[in-house]
Amino acid sequence: MNRKVSKAIFPVAGMGTRFLPATKSVPKEIMTLVDRPLIQYAIDEARAAGIEDFIFVTSRGKSALEDYFDLAPDLEAALEESGKTELLQILRTTNMDSGTIAYLRQHKALGLGHAVSCARKLIGDEPFAVILPDDVIAGEKPCLQQMVEAYQETGGAMVATMEVSPEQTSAYGVLDVEDLTGPIVKARGMVEKPAPGTAPSNLAVIGRYILTPQVLANFDKIGRGAGGEIQLTDAIAEEIRSDRDVFGYRFEGERYDCGSKAGFLQATVAFALARDELRDELAAFLAQLPANTQAAQ
Ligand code: UTP
Repeated sequence: MNRKVSKAIFPVAGMGTRFLPATKSVPKEIMTLVDRPLIQYAIDEARAAGIEDFIFVTSRGKSALEDYFDLAPDLEAALEESGKTELLQILRTTNMDSGTIAYLRQHKALGLGHAVSCARKLIGDEPFAVILPDDVIAGEKPCLQQMVEAYQETGGAMVATMEVSPEQTSAYGVLDVEDLTGPIVKARGMVEKPAPGTAPSNLAVIGRYILTPQVLANFDKIGRGAGGEIQLTDAIAEEIRSDRDVFGYRFEGERYDCGSKAGFLQATVAFALARDELRDELAAFLAQLPANTQAAQ
């Protein structure tokens, strides 16, 4: 099969309950790290990896996401008139060409696997990427680009993976691997949210995937999995059962779990400290923090 990866699915139909009440009206993916919504980081990473077609699987209440990628002619005109060229430039980086984005609805939140399978008709007969925008990965070379390059060598299906502590494995999909040398590891099994103490390794699956249409076809064979949801992990594990290759890719970079409050706050601090215009003020604030915390309660 052709190994060019030009389409990416962004499953953004989850309810984001960990951020209620904010997510009652604001999609989690629109929440900002410093001044850019989570979805912008995901789109930038996809573009850097050569993605040309962007497929969003959304749900009710996510129209702010569609608006975010639309043109903003009034705002652009106002910035132009007032000579704010730098802001205009920033704004224009968010524009997407007509025809490059497709939005489709997952009518019921039946799980990540189900969300991905909703895009089946738009994928056709080629490999595709899946990006979960709440996993934000900072690195010199964007994570998906690293994976696309590795995929040129391997083919098959590929999932991003990283080591987590044994206590954390039950929150992730976990790989069973043959050996642990090098960034590409061959999987011989994969399990979603293993019960504590039963994980086959501490290699957790993180929200970046390169998959084949065959993985989508596997949804016809699998039922509901962990938590009563239709799991992407189960459709990928079916590849291993059918003797087709699945690889884990141990990416270089720092991953932040922005689907959790603690991870989101850590990312906010890290991304702000990386910005020249914010670093000194924020670092000074953090340095004298114990004196401050009571006032914020
Ligand atoms: P999460 O497990 O983080 O769920 O989904 P969530 O609903 O977004 O958040 P919480 O746990 O209620 O706080 C992981 C990814 O899968 C997508 C989510 O949008 C997120 O990108 N997802 C999950 C769907 O698109 N549909 C689903 O049915 C479930």
